[in-house]
Order: sequence, then C-alpha cells, then structure tokens
Amino acid sequence: MPTDAFTTNSPRQPRTVLITGGTSGIGFAAAMGVLRSDGPWHVIVANRDATRAKPAVDQLRAAATAGNTVESLSVDLASLESVSTFATDLVARITAGTLPPFQAVVCNAGVQAGASMTTTEDGYESSFGVNHLAHFFLVEQLRPVLTAPARVVVVASDTHDPAMKAGVPVPAWSTAQELAYGKLGASAAKDGAFVAGQRRYSTSKLANIFYTYELARRLPAGVTANAFNPGLVPGTGLQRSAPAPVRIIAKHILPRMTWLVRRVMTPNVHTAEESGAALASLAIDPSLSDTTGAYFDGRTPINSSEESYDTAKSNDLWNVSEALVQR
Ligand SMILES: NC(=O)c1ccc[n+]([C@@H]2O[C@H](COP(=O)([O-])OP(=O)(O)OC[C@H]3O[C@@H](n4cnc5c(N)ncnc54)[C@H](OP(=O)(O)O)[C@@H]3O)[C@@H](O)[C@H]2O)c1
Repeated sequence: MPTDAFTTNSPRQPRTVLITGGTSGIGFAAAMGVLRSDGPWHVIVANRDATRAKPAVDQLRAAATAGNTVESLSVDLASLESVSTFATDLVARITAGTLPPFQAVVCNAGVQAGASMTTTEDGYESSFGVNHLAHFFLVEQLRPVLTAPARVVVVASDTHDPAMKAGVPVPAWSTAQELAYGKLGASAAKDGAFVAGQRRYSTSKLANIFYTYELARRLPAGVTANAFNPGLVPGTGLQRSAPAPVRIIAKHILPRMTWLVRRVMTPNVHTAEESGAALASLAIDPSLSDTTGAYFDGRTPINSSEESYDTAKSNDLWNVSEALVQR
C-alpha cells in the first residue's frame, strides 16, 4: 500500500516517475534531482523495506520543490511474484486515474554478487534475476499504461564494455538461458568464485543494454528506452555483499580518494549526486523526449560495446526472458 497518498494542487497535469532502488546511492540522487526540478512530478521510490526506506523518503519529501510529491512503495525484485503484485497495483491505479500517467520508469536497482553465487526466489542467478529479469518483467507488466509520451531508462554500466577497462572482469556471455542459472561463457572457465560473481555482474549489465536496445525496437512511437552509464560512483551500497576488505575500500576509502581512482582506475568517476542528476535528466529533460535506443555515458550519448549491438543475442535474451517470467 502507498505510504503517502497522491495529492497536488498544481494546475498542470502531474506525471509519475518510478525509480527502482530509489532510496540509496544513484537512485536516491536521481529521485532528488527529479523532485528538485520543475514538475509537477510524482516520484515513486521503490524499495525493499518501507521502514528502512523511511529516512531517505523523509529527506526526499523535505527537499521536494513545491508541487512535487514522493511516495514510497515496496517491491522485492528478487521475487517475480512481488514484481507482479507491485506492477498490478500501479496499472490499476493509473487506469483508475488515481495515479498520474508515467513520465518515466527508471530501472536502477542492482546487485553486485559477493563471494558465492546466490539466486532469486524463483531460482535465477541474482545479478541476472534482479538487474535484468525483474526489470524486464516489471516493464512488460506496466506496458498497458506505458503510453506516449513515456520513457524507460535502464541503468547499465561501462563494466559491460571491455574497451572501457572499468576495473571489473569483462562480460562472458553464454546464452540467456545459461546466464539465468549463473553459467557464464567459456572465457570465464578459470574464474574463482569472487571473480565469477563480478563477471556475472558485468554480464548482467551487458544484458541491460541488449534489453534496452531490444525494448526500444518494440515500444510504440512516443515511448522511448535508453540505457545509462553512471561511471564509477564510489561509496554507494553496491558492494554490500563483497568480502569485507573490498566492501571497506569501496565504501570508505575510494570516496575520499577520487583523485587516485581517476589516475589508477578510470577517469570516469562521479559522486552519486552528479550521476543521479544525469540520470534524472534522462527521465525528464524535454529535449530528450524523442531520443530512443541510445546509450548515455552520463549526459552524453556514446556507442556501447561492439558485442552489445549483436541483435541475435538481444533477441534471444528477449525470448528467453519472456519464457522465464511465465509462472
Ligand atoms: N556505483 C557504481 O559505481 C555503479 C557503476 C555503474 C553502474 N551502477 C549501477 O547503478 C545502479 C544503482 O547502484 P548504486 O551504485 O546506487 O548502488 P546501491 O546504493 O546499492 O543501490 C542499489 C539499489 O538497488 C536496490 N535493490 C537491490 N536489490 C533489490 C531487490 N531485490 N529488490 C528491490 N531493490 C533492490 C537496493 O535496495 P536496498 O537499499 O533495499 O538494498 C538499492 O536501493 C545499479 O544498477 C548499478 O549496477 C553503479
């Protein structure tokens, strides 16, 4: 159930921006960016646990520009049943006119695996299941109310691209069916457990881009889909499942040493606020209303990896994903 009923006094038609993983890291900063801009926007910050999310939601509400509203809704993306319940409620509310139509669905939530492979409630490998499949299912369920003008923005990562040398083992695509159960391609054969987990993450981010391009080809005119790379954003919760030394370095040391990170890892380092603001602009900037099927590095459209344009793989991912969400 909504924790904050939708109300606005604005004479303009409000629109809904849904952000998964909206109470921490880049998603929180993106929600803040939307809420601080001219709307009226109704921002739904999806989270796993309303009580845990409350301080972040209160902070967003306090910072919102007059006329913008925020609502906290819970969904567990590691459960297709939870996604279905969540989406069904949103479709019913939009259809009934008690929730404004979608401006954007921002598929931001993500997990980076730890030292051992984990699975979702439905038995799929977690980074494939949460980062890709749950968002695929969410958007498919929302399709009846994703009418023009509306946008889907998928948060990917430059870890999908071997040319970017992003400091994470590069993707090893096998087939969508195999990846759903954690089986990477042949180049990962010698990986230990931690490296394999990191590689499943970068491979799931490649899936995010395959999915975005395929979605853009399948959406009706006026509904767009774009992928987004936030760059390296130290200090978010993404490494929460990593072994303690990695977690401590990622959470407490790298954010204080961005000059060193720029020199030895990647120049593409940002604060959550910088990347969140860029993500917010993909969701609401009027100049992007016709842009679809693009990959943005921050605010700049660039080419994604060579492999990511392989339409046989993206088509296979789509077909397999459709089958995997049939329950
Ligand atoms: N940080 C970076 O350097 C970086 C770089 C490239 C791409 N990205 C991408 O940016 C996105 C946001 O990551 P972040 O860095 O901001 O990390 P973060 O702070 O950990 O945010 C991830 C969000 O996803 C949510 N989430 C995880 N599992 C979920 C589940 N089963 N159901 C619902 N929500 C779930 C988390 O919710 P809880 O708070 O409940 O755990 C959290 O709010 C991810 O897609 C990530 O891959 C990050």
